[in-house]
Amino acid sequence: MDKATRLKIEKIIRAQRDSSPLRVLFVCLGNICRSPAAEGIMRSIIENRNSQSDWEIDSAGTGGYHIGELPDRRMRLHARNRGIELSHRCRQVSLEDFSHFDIIIGMDASNMANLKSIAPTDKSLDKLVPMSAFFSSEDRYDHVPDPYYDGAEGFELVLDLLQDACTNLFNTFQPSLGQ
Ligand code: 4NP
Repeated sequence: MDKATRLKIEKIIRAQRDSSPLRVLFVCLGNICRSPAAEGIMRSIIENRNSQSDWEIDSAGTGGYHIGELPDRRMRLHARNRGIELSHRCRQVSLEDFSHFDIIIGMDASNMANLKSIAPTDKSLDKLVPMSAFFSSEDRYDHVPDPYYDGAEGFELVLDLLQDACTNLFNTFQPSLGQ
């Protein structure tokens, strides 16, 4: 993780003290593959640790191609094989998201660039963090790759990366929540 991202995360933690829940928005392009999977995985981690009151989780897409749809059938299938049901309905990022959420997490550099270009205030820019900031190791991947045109391995890879990143996201913030 670069220094600027680490400072951003420390700032979000400081701002969050005493004001649970932490509001997290996961963002990708279509909001039918990566970000709803991140949402589902994060919810399952939070439920397993009995920390539901400390977190609010949602996802959205920068594009508007699939609004109202369930996640991609292939992503739902691969997630279900890991015990995770994805029931999010696709929606597009809105300007209100930049004030409502405490942290907005983009899956790749293109998502981050799109978010930056629509962020309405400097304060909201401070909320934008790439998912790779939470990877245990950035040696192999520095983003969550779009699986839309890939086979089964692409979806499995996304779920592996998200499971790791969501676990680290939980462990980064949970100690400062619910005190
Ligand atoms: P996602 O994948 O950003 O992970 O949801 C995509 C899904 C659909 C499209 C692009 C990416 N699309 O162009 O329809």
